[in-house]
Amino acid sequence: MSVSKDSIAIEIKDLKKHFKEVKAVDGVSLKIRKGELFSILGPNGAGKTTLVRMLTTVLTPTAGDANVYGFSILTGKKEIVKNIGVCPQVITIYEVLKAEENVEFIAIMHGMTRKEAKEKTRTILEAFGIAGRKDWSKRFSGGMQRRLNLAMSLVFEPKILFLDEPTAGLDPQARRLVWDYIRDLKNRDITIILMTHDMVEADSLSDRIAFIDQGKIIAKGTPTELKEKYGSDNALEVSFINQEDLEIVKNNLKNIPFVVNWSEISRKERKTLLISFQGGLKNLMRLLQQGLIDNIDEVENMKFRQNSLEDVFLNLTGKRLRD
Ligand SMILES: Nc1ncnc2c1ncn2[C@@H]1O[C@H](COP(=O)(O)OP(=O)(O)O)[C@@H](O)[C@H]1O
Ligand SMILES: [Mg+2]
Repeated sequence: MSVSKDSIAIEIKDLKKHFKEVKAVDGVSLKIRKGELFSILGPNGAGKTTLVRMLTTVLTPTAGDANVYGFSILTGKKEIVKNIGVCPQVITIYEVLKAEENVEFIAIMHGMTRKEAKEKTRTILEAFGIAGRKDWSKRFSGGMQRRLNLAMSLVFEPKILFLDEPTAGLDPQARRLVWDYIRDLKNRDITIILMTHDMVEADSLSDRIAFIDQGKIIAKGTPTELKEKYGSDNALEVSFINQEDLEIVKNNLKNIPFVVNWSEISRKERKTLLISFQGGLKNLMRLLQQGLIDNIDEVENMKFRQNSLEDVFLNLTGKRLRD
């Protein structure tokens, strides 16, 4: 698909950053469209933070270049920082300021009037559930500091937002709050670059994902494309009380086109069938209806494992994302 030039928010051209022999970023090229949520997904040490630091002009590349909203990171630092918001991996707040002072400070730095800054600050702190706190932000819990940091990166409504592991260290509830807010931003025409090692996060938020490993992009596409192209088949594991019931189901499977294959495995005493099939949850329902429903009373146990981005990474690299 060809994309017209002014629909591109970021164009990265063979970008490299080497720290002596460590090739932290090693020839990354990517085009990120305006308004999309683009995730860069990879394990710790893959080069995500180094990439963000170059794109936000904090770090000078060893080689290559990138355009951020039409300005080169090599020569357009001043213009670029006006247009971008950054929420860094390491929380960066002024601990001896209150929450609202932290946010207002950033707003005013970006040219808002004091009145405007105050209003925007109140709105955003309310959205993040940390309005009305009068103590120093030093006293906040990790989750609250993270949300404050996000509020700071967003208060001036940047055109491009870089989020480097925005939910690292958050409890599940705070994580969902941040995800909801990110989803909400997507509706406001803001381009978001999300760096994460969390495949559930990337899967549920991203329009497109690029997998990064050892400084290189190893695959990219929509979550569905990636899973279809590089993922595994879904697998349903069914254990029966009697061998004859297993045989009946095995026979049924022959007539189901999306079933890829099946094998008998031993699970302690149980007679177990491992069924691989293509497609999504709809096909799981069909498989149950067409293959199993007549024998459902004879089923002792059932486990379903869905094709995931974890499988994609494993199949591409032989490694797990989490390691
Ligand atoms: N300032 C630095 N000096 C030397 N090595 C660095 C520096 N910053 C990052 N690295 C190395 O570069 C690689 C990529 O790091 P990083 O970009 O932080 O990865 P990620 O954010 O994906 O976890 C790692 O091997 C890391 O140790
Ligand atoms: Mg990092």
